[in-house]
Amino acid sequence: MTDVVRFSISSEGALLDRFDTLIARKGYGNRSEAIRDLIRNALVEEVLANESAEAVGTVTLMYDHHVAELSNKLTDHQHHHHRTIVSTLHIHLDDHDCLEVVVLRGRAGEIRALADSLISTKGVKHGRFVASAATSSLVPDPPPCA
Ligand code: NI
Repeated sequence: MTDVVRFSISSEGALLDRFDTLIARKGYGNRSEAIRDLIRNALVEEVLANESAEAVGTVTLMYDHHVAELSNKLTDHQHHHHRTIVSTLHIHLDDHDCLEVVVLRGRAGEIRALADSLISTKGVKHGRFVASAATSSLVPDPPPCA
């Protein structure tokens, strides 16, 4: 890590006590790493608010493959968006249920819309979308060489 800057924060004691309890439960070794994660989360949210920003994400889907045509619908949908879908992991959990994890990369608005359409497909029991900003949108390009 380069260019580390120290700064201090003033807070009510009770608020800081609750924060310390929270970060200890989550496994943070110190406040600095916890606060850096909060800052990163805020920056990612800011990037993802821009629909044209470069983003990555995963969609987790739980469904029963016996539901009529559901597997085919999900597969057709993914073929239609093959440029946005980087990879798909499919696990047969038991005789009925499937777990599918779909990795997406593209514009923030585009991958959110695709995730929403997969999750809302009739017969999907549970779905969750998690997005992050592509790291290149968080770290500014280095200045050009002179
Ligand atoms: Ni399966």
